[in-house]
Amino acid sequence: MLSYILRGGLSLLVCLWALLLPQVSLHRLSHHGRSDHSVRDRPKLLLVSFDGFRWDYIDRVPMPNFRTIMDEGVKVEYVENAYITKTFPNHYSLVTGLYAETHGIVANEMYDPVLNQSFSMETDSIYDSQWWEEAVPLWVTVQKSGGRSGAAMWPGSDVKIHGMFPNQYLQYNASVSFESRVGRIIEWLSAPKEEAVDFGVLYWEEPDESGHNLGPQSSLMDVVIAGIDEKLGFLLNELKKAGLYEKVNLIVTSDHGMAQLSTDKIIELDEYVSRDLYTWVDKSPVVGILPKEGKLDEVYSLLADANPNMVAYKKEDIPEHLHYQHNVRIMPILLESKEGWTIMQNRTGPFMLGNHGYDNTLRSMQPVFVARGPAFRQNYVKTSMRSVDLYPLMCHILSIRPLPNNGSLLNVQDLLILEPTTPAPITPHPPITPKANGYSYAPVVGSFLGVVMVLGFLVVYVILVTLKQRPVLKHRSWEMSQPLLQEDLHL
Ligand SMILES: *[C@@H]1O[C@H](CO)[C@@H](O)[C@H](O)[C@H]1NC(C)=O
Ligand SMILES: *[C@@H]1O[C@H](CO)[C@@H](O)[C@H](O)[C@H]1NC(C)=O
Ligand SMILES: *[C@@H]1O[C@H](CO)[C@@H](O)[C@H](O)[C@H]1NC(C)=O
Ligand SMILES: *[C@@H]1O[C@H](CO)[C@@H](O)[C@H](O)[C@H]1NC(C)=O
Ligand SMILES: [Zn+2]
Repeated sequence: MLSYILRGGLSLLVCLWALLLPQVSLHRLSHHGRSDHSVRDRPKLLLVSFDGFRWDYIDRVPMPNFRTIMDEGVKVEYVENAYITKTFPNHYSLVTGLYAETHGIVANEMYDPVLNQSFSMETDSIYDSQWWEEAVPLWVTVQKSGGRSGAAMWPGSDVKIHGMFPNQYLQYNASVSFESRVGRIIEWLSAPKEEAVDFGVLYWEEPDESGHNLGPQSSLMDVVIAGIDEKLGFLLNELKKAGLYEKVNLIVTSDHGMAQLSTDKIIELDEYVSRDLYTWVDKSPVVGILPKEGKLDEVYSLLADANPNMVAYKKEDIPEHLHYQHNVRIMPILLESKEGWTIMQNRTGPFMLGNHGYDNTLRSMQPVFVARGPAFRQNYVKTSMRSVDLYPLMCHILSIRPLPNNGSLLNVQDLLILEPTTPAPITPHPPITPKANGYSYAPVVGSFLGVVMVLGFLVVYVILVTLKQRPVLKHRSWEMSQPLLQEDLHL
């Protein structure tokens, strides 16, 4: 009898150990899993801009790789970008969710009367932090939230902004190929878990450059556009090779579209106003005019009704819907030409066949927008969004708290698989905690296994008891052995 008790006790200990083992080991696993999740399995996001990729280019020639993203993800047909529809203002809007008047990069060429300094894409002035610090780009916010960012030549990403560069970035150099930019991005996204970037931005100069030189209507643009699809195909393939394709949320968009110009649509300012009366700060097709001291009214009256294909606004009269007024870097007079028209001082000087910068509600000024990845719905076409809505969407995907912005998650949340639990447009909302799949299973699974082990122990115990003590009952069924077991335990 004693041997049975000993055996039973021993078995009980084994059973208790078995009961605890799964708890402990699963707990350890889940703990391990949790720390993994915060680094390696944190949602990843790659934002790609093909400069000057007009929304309708995807329907112009076969675009199998864009098609793949649309089939596997989402497409937005009508994207209202930010005024003015130029490269620097719009790239900063995409990563801040702010209109240009608020983020402060109001043009590619600027003059700040408070700083008494000029900003130009053509000079090193772009590396002066002061121009950028009216806003905080998403890569900085990601890093301040404990994440990591990598940037391949996105405008502003090689500038120190609020004391920070992206964790990984490339100094702007137009000669660096798309393929090597992609190579670096892939390297950063797939780095060992503590170093891997969560948020990447990738910029490519085409099809903007060709759009300017050839004009969007040129049939030569077909080749350029098909070439962009091949570049996208390269990126998709590299993501696949690195095992990132199913993990990375990929957004492919642009800063603006492109309009066809012609030499018989030129407005010559010299016909209306003497060059001695003003400085033109930002150039065609939306011109920032800084009148000489005391010459504002004179210059304005000379330009106001000068040409039917051009509107002159005093700063305070710039239409509200353009959100382009409240910044010292916006000049006292703004000239806006009609679509397809070019403003020059006279007819000498370089002339482009394509340009952008016009009113952001013009279809020709609007960019492409497609996206795919674990956060996005599949094969879904949305009618419209504003490009400032992208910022709160990206913050949601990255589970970080957005800064105050002009976008609305509510406007774009239907692009996502899971609707946010607390949609709060414009105002900041609490960070959405990563979905805790699996953590809470451990105790349940452990207990379940424990119970199974207890039952297993009981089965074994009963079989042993019945075999030893009542050999004749070796073929007894379970039900019949139960009372015997209880009897023994009562001893
Ligand atoms: C602004 O800077 C220029 C030199 O870039 C200088 O000549 C001019 O006097 C400055 N104006 C003011 C108001 O400080
Ligand atoms: C820009 O990139 C090209 C091609 O990689 C390289 O040859 C050149 O040295 C780079 N220029 C600078 C200033 O780094
Ligand atoms: C046009 O302007 C340039 C300076 O930008 C000047 O050299 C040229 O003489 C002007 N042409 C005419 C026809 O006025
Ligand atoms: C855009 O957002 C900023 C920051 O919240 C705010 O200051 C600004 O007034 C907003 N602009 C518009 C037009 O709502
Ligand atoms: Zn551009």
